[in-house]
Amino acid sequence: MSAPRENWKSKLGFVLAASGSAIGLGNIVFFSSNAYQYGGGAFYLPYFVALFVIGMPVMMVEFGLGSLTQQSFPMALRRLAGKRGEFVGWFSIASALFITMYYIAILGWGVGMMIGAFGSLFEPGVSAPFAPFSEPTADASAMVYFFDLISTWNPLLYIVLLWMVNIYILRQGTHTIEKAVRVFVPVMWIFMILLVIRGLTLPGGFDGMMFLFTPALEGIAEPTVWKGAFSQMFFSLSLGLGTMTAYASYLPKDADQVNNSMLVSFLNCSFEFLAGVAIFSLLFAFALNPAGSTLSLSFFVIPQGINELSNTPWIVRLFGFGFYLLVVLAGITSSISLIESPASALMDKFKIRRSKALMYIAIPCILGSFLFALPQIIDSGLTGNGTLGLTLLDITDHWVFNYSLLTVGLLEVIMMGWVFGAERLRQSLNANAKLKLGRWFTLLIKFVIPSLLLLVIILSLIEEWPLYGSNYDMPGYSWLTVFIPIFWIVTTSVFAFYLSNRKPKTA
Ligand code: TRP
Repeated sequence: MSAPRENWKSKLGFVLAASGSAIGLGNIVFFSSNAYQYGGGAFYLPYFVALFVIGMPVMMVEFGLGSLTQQSFPMALRRLAGKRGEFVGWFSIASALFITMYYIAILGWGVGMMIGAFGSLFEPGVSAPFAPFSEPTADASAMVYFFDLISTWNPLLYIVLLWMVNIYILRQGTHTIEKAVRVFVPVMWIFMILLVIRGLTLPGGFDGMMFLFTPALEGIAEPTVWKGAFSQMFFSLSLGLGTMTAYASYLPKDADQVNNSMLVSFLNCSFEFLAGVAIFSLLFAFALNPAGSTLSLSFFVIPQGINELSNTPWIVRLFGFGFYLLVVLAGITSSISLIESPASALMDKFKIRRSKALMYIAIPCILGSFLFALPQIIDSGLTGNGTLGLTLLDITDHWVFNYSLLTVGLLEVIMMGWVFGAERLRQSLNANAKLKLGRWFTLLIKFVIPSLLLLVIILSLIEEWPLYGSNYDMPGYSWLTVFIPIFWIVTTSVFAFYLSNRKPKTA
């Protein structure tokens, strides 16, 4: 006899956990740099299309898959579309593992920054020794601190620590997840609201908000803006990696998934906008320019802003510490969900104990996270990405972030719409929903979402040449730009092929 499936104790517990999964680095780090890169207000229309036309309906698909089958992603897709479905499921699980590995490496730097807040991160009067960054702002202590940090082995220690915290929170599944999110998620919101208040009361802060909120139309015809918005939405809402299905599989069969999807999306996007306001008000108040890579915004532009917040050093340090604590807490409530997705998949398929599944995942993945924190400097001018770890991270992120999520999204929606039947899905969702989905939902799932996703994937693949990263200045390592995408495709496919062909255990 197998034990009955574990359950969330309350709807609140589930909503906290799912919104905690959604709210993470995507909302704080990636959203603001994407919004800036794609021109503030011009990002709007694609963003809202991505939210209402794609994000929310796909979340209903993933939640529905979980609660209707009471299985995690690969096994749920197997019910839907046989072995081929399961292959897609494991492909997405493998991609989840890749993302988890570098996600935790980034969190490791967050921990390093928290520690630095009381050390040399906010030392006044340091100017950058690196040519490309030395122009606009005189005070470069954050940049110097960050590059010093990532060129030491210390982040490896933080990575081990973070993995231990993650495993600790996951040790009894929903029971311990619920305990953690009940504390972490409210704290995150309070911190973010404080940051927004501080940002908006800065002279000039308001203009930053206006930059973000004034709709603009230029750039709307560019496919990269749409790809940016779609990938950002998938990542931010935790879609495409089986996470939401795993979490929803611990809900009763008759959960109202229409309501849950709207609630979780609303919480996620509100937090995202608050983070945008907090960050842009800071940038505008101090005329900071967030150029450079995604990570530069959070790891050395924002600290510069924090440094200007006050003349009293301890206030600056406290704010800096608070900001990175916020990043780390928001990150942990997401990384646990990224790990729970493969863990629940292994438990469902092989009927193994949770502790065993967690060990199978943690041991190789800690080593994987280490790779993304390798401190060797391969680009001494630091024009590209400086260390080996950061370069690996940047290139892996480009491929996995932009392509895995959307591809899995495309395939799951096709299977749902055409194999299971979009109309059937609509009726099963409606059976438990207060707010009923109209016929438009069937059209979205069958035609609109697959065509939009396919279009965006094809257009961005066409633009992919020359390969991402090939303009980095890293003698001896340029093969990485070719090797990484091939390595990712081959390992995930082999992994998925192997696992989808293994017989499931029937306990
Ligand atoms: N949504 C999280 C963030 O914004 C990251 C995340 C957690 C995620 N689980 C996911 C992203 C599943 C994609 C798929 O940081």
